[in-house]
Amino acid sequence: MVLASGAGSNLQALLDAVNNGDLNAEIVGVIVNRRDAYALERASTNEIPTSFLGLRPYLDTSDDPAQARRRYDADLAGIVSGHRPDLVVLAGWMHLLTMEFLSHFPGRVMNLHPALPGEFPGAHAIDDAWHAHLSDGLDRTGVMVHLVPDEGVDDGPVLATQVVPIRADDDRESLEARIHAAEHDLLVRTVGDFLERM
Ligand code: GAR
Repeated sequence: MVLASGAGSNLQALLDAVNNGDLNAEIVGVIVNRRDAYALERASTNEIPTSFLGLRPYLDTSDDPAQARRRYDADLAGIVSGHRPDLVVLAGWMHLLTMEFLSHFPGRVMNLHPALPGEFPGAHAIDDAWHAHLSDGLDRTGVMVHLVPDEGVDDGPVLATQVVPIRADDDRESLEARIHAAEHDLLVRTVGDFLERM
């Protein structure tokens, strides 16, 4: 099961790996939280069941944003559970999950993040690394895949990492392209390893 919010290039890497036999897995469903997420198209092209669940209606019908998020997460957990997945992959899922969701899938929620453990959490990790390169000469960043046991942001037991050097001739775009290439590869390998160990 894959949850995504945007372009879905990591979902595509998983789809390609399944389709060409490199990954022994079935993607049982894809959920997006943005109606215009291109991940939706990628899933539909591959005849994978899709769902859209947006947070906005929950926020609009509650005076308590925290309670709205918990209701959203409970409904999201219901949709995910309906697919009976072995693993839930957050592949560019830009929504912080509460325990209302996570408690349903202990040890089975995996997040991909474009930074090394403990560095640049949040939605702008690549920009943050690029600015650290420009201001402090940071000469490497990386990508990681980790489990999501609780509400920590881009934090949790690390399953795999890959260092990505920042080269003298890099610009923001070339760095981002190499980070994405590294995460496509790392995510496919880590999902494969996880499912093999089950
Ligand atoms: C990826 O770089 C992923 O690591 C990042 O969102 C991007 C999604 O790209 N996730 C985070 O920053 C999580 N904090 P994609 O939609 O093309 O797969």
